[in-house]
Amino acid sequence: MKKYKIHILSIIAAFALLTSCGNNNGQNSSNGALNASAAEKMYVAPGEQDDYYAFMSGGYSGNLTVYGLPSGRMFKEIPVFSQFPTSGYGYSEETKPMLNTSHGFVPWDDSHHPDISQTNGELDGRWIFINGNNTPRIARISLSTFETEEIIEVPNSAGNHSSSFITENTEYVVAGTRFSVPIPQRDMAISDYKENFKGSLSFISVDPEHGHMDIKFQLLMPGFNYDLSHPGRGKSHGWFFFTTYNTEEAHTLQEVNASQNDKDFIAAVNWKKIEEYVNNGGGTKVPANYAHNVYDESTHMATTTMKKEVLTVDPLKVPGAVYFLPTPKSPHGCDVDPSGEYIIGNGKLSADLTVHSFDNMIAAIEGKKFDGEAYGIPILKFEDVLAGTVKSGGLGPLHTEFDGKGNAYTTFFISSEVVKWKLGSWEVVDRKPTYYSVGHIMIPGGNSRKPFGGYAVALNKITKDRYLPVGPEMEHSAQIYDISGEKMELIYDFPTHGEPHYAAGCPAELLAPKAKKIYRLDENKNPYAINNPGEAKVTRDGNEVHIYMSTIRSHFTPDNIEGIKVGDKVYFHITNHEQDFDVPHGFAMIGQNTSELLVMPGQTKTSVWEPKQVGVWPFYCTDFCSALHQEMQGYVRVSPANSNIELSWSLGD
Ligand code: CUA
Repeated sequence: MKKYKIHILSIIAAFALLTSCGNNNGQNSSNGALNASAAEKMYVAPGEQDDYYAFMSGGYSGNLTVYGLPSGRMFKEIPVFSQFPTSGYGYSEETKPMLNTSHGFVPWDDSHHPDISQTNGELDGRWIFINGNNTPRIARISLSTFETEEIIEVPNSAGNHSSSFITENTEYVVAGTRFSVPIPQRDMAISDYKENFKGSLSFISVDPEHGHMDIKFQLLMPGFNYDLSHPGRGKSHGWFFFTTYNTEEAHTLQEVNASQNDKDFIAAVNWKKIEEYVNNGGGTKVPANYAHNVYDESTHMATTTMKKEVLTVDPLKVPGAVYFLPTPKSPHGCDVDPSGEYIIGNGKLSADLTVHSFDNMIAAIEGKKFDGEAYGIPILKFEDVLAGTVKSGGLGPLHTEFDGKGNAYTTFFISSEVVKWKLGSWEVVDRKPTYYSVGHIMIPGGNSRKPFGGYAVALNKITKDRYLPVGPEMEHSAQIYDISGEKMELIYDFPTHGEPHYAAGCPAELLAPKAKKIYRLDENKNPYAINNPGEAKVTRDGNEVHIYMSTIRSHFTPDNIEGIKVGDKVYFHITNHEQDFDVPHGFAMIGQNTSELLVMPGQTKTSVWEPKQVGVWPFYCTDFCSALHQEMQGYVRVSPANSNIELSWSLGD
């Protein structure tokens, strides 16, 4: 065992050296000049549109970015877990509740794995989900408005990494804990980890109509690290597969202590069986405390509900629901092919890829061919469930996607390459270098029964010399491979924002026709909305002042306000009365301790300002909305706290 460890660590060190120097000249010259046909493949002429949407996780930006494929053009950054001054998300009164948690207001997270909703195992383009890794949360984003509509906190979880993955009919979005923790949380010695900490796997139901999320149950598993997961599909629909590492249950120096076992497990969870158990009254309700934040599209307003209870399930109470599949070398990615037959364990400290067979697994379960148990959960025999091994010749396999034509594409972090191999024969048919240190890979629809193929996007961790240097930190790079032929062809690379972990892609025609263009004014139910500029008003309630304001090109109504006093709390409720596509107005008030707002046509948004100094203070529109945008401004007169200036407002007087 010790020998193995030294061997692996020295190989990693050797590859690290390889990727950290000496790459520059050779690879730039061999790859810098793509041939003209490659350039044509990614070129989307001015005025033309891309074939695919690509949603890249924003990593430590906490957000989600939207790109076009094959051009690599960025269209939008969708704020999810982080405050976003560009739109006022998390700063406006309406959107602040989206970032509430049991730990208070948490305006940041680390977003990793987007997944698009599915019907019958095919992308349906209704929503996209993404996990917050640090303060465990799952977000749902509308693929009509491209706005975050809902965030649910996940209690009893930590490092919410094997998340957020969708079952075949979006019955559940699944979230697994990476770090096991005491459940319930309590004051105890860290050294008592082993046999005491637990790992929760949360099955969050998704309302088929509105998409609203609710934690149906949490499966309390042994205290391993649950790294990544994917749903069964087709014949394996009803199962979910999770890679584990640290089956050693080490609590310190994991880089050594969690690499002792030759094999860790893929946990196979029959969620349909557990669902039935729960529907028949099974499970134990335990006290919990977690936030459920919902944004209402008609009020343009988010609300937080604190939930106080969660249903937990002990796997031993549901015989036949959970099995362990031994899988070599601390597996990372856990990927299921489009047919649902093959479950791929990407052993990150290995050169080979382990592929399990769903049919073999079921046969082994039926034949009760077990190889012992872990905490009462049956372990299947490795040889019984194995479908095959891909002898790749690479090192450090992380993730695998599929093209729907019988091929799989696996990224190798340490040897910095994408390897294409055939499902069933396990034969490697192509390999191409990535620049450098690739993590995830994305093929549009690659995590579904019907991948669209066409392109594979490698999401690389290290950028180095690919772009002009901009100081010590470079944006990460994504690289596009044309995979329409037998051999992959690198056609383009482009910078991404934050650290893109996983990504999800779909054809443009699935989303573009139903993308929302405006919010209808007659459907605006925000309690502070006004129907037209004539209803603009200012009201006082003690030291709270509410300004009901309208924007229309190119003025605010009202634009002169007097009678505000030092010590007041002033709410600007701004309704944008435009009804044309792509005409937002912005709002910013001098000295306010928050960001500007961007108000979409038909929307109402609220900004708060607490004036601290006497004077006449201006506000203005932050979005260049017309030729007279610079004239779109106004003044607020602020008088001393004891002043008796009457509240008044006007436009054009
Ligand atoms: Cu309104 Cu600029």
